[in-house]
Amino acid sequence: MSTYLSPETLRELRAERGLTQAALAEKIGVTDKAVSKWETGRGLPDITLIDDLASALGCSVAELLCGEVRRNANRAANMSRCIFYVCPICGNVVVATGEGSFSCCGSTMLPQEAETPEPGSAHDFSIERVEHEWYVTAGNHPMTKQHFVSFIAYVTSDGVNLKKLYPEQLDWPRFHMTGSGWIYVYCNRHGLYRKRTPRVR
Ligand SMILES: [Fe+2]
Repeated sequence: MSTYLSPETLRELRAERGLTQAALAEKIGVTDKAVSKWETGRGLPDITLIDDLASALGCSVAELLCGEVRRNANRAANMSRCIFYVCPICGNVVVATGEGSFSCCGSTMLPQEAETPEPGSAHDFSIERVEHEWYVTAGNHPMTKQHFVSFIAYVTSDGVNLKKLYPEQLDWPRFHMTGSGWIYVYCNRHGLYRKRTPRVR
């Protein structure tokens, strides 16, 4: 029989938190016998207790009920593994340090996989060092309202610098150089391209 709370989930969560049945019972104002019944499938907590039960177990109600608790796994903060999510409708951009789900304009933002541009193609671009800046130029690419480079980003292991571009924009961005990394160029029609910056000594 399926129930809204599985005995295994409850047992595992309580054990992970290092709580005895009595300690959990006390936190939510029931007897330890009641907790024992829930954990052996001989009874279910009253639905009005679910909020308290979830907070005593340090998880959300949704996690408790579906039995899938999200562990607090702090993602590695290496920004060079960041992911760009782009709204297919308005072009909004989210930069994430790992996979996630994002939405915009009522639509799911899709993670963009970067390709290496073919040398000399419309999506190829140049990265030139001028003193302490990278000059990025994607002059082969159209900049019309229908088809344009909508952002360029400079990514190193500790940061992302993203510059938004607009149709008919004639000047290309420069980035204050903070080390070797990647330059990403995003075309609204063809997606994401990237190249390594020259080595910084
Ligand atoms: Fe393009």
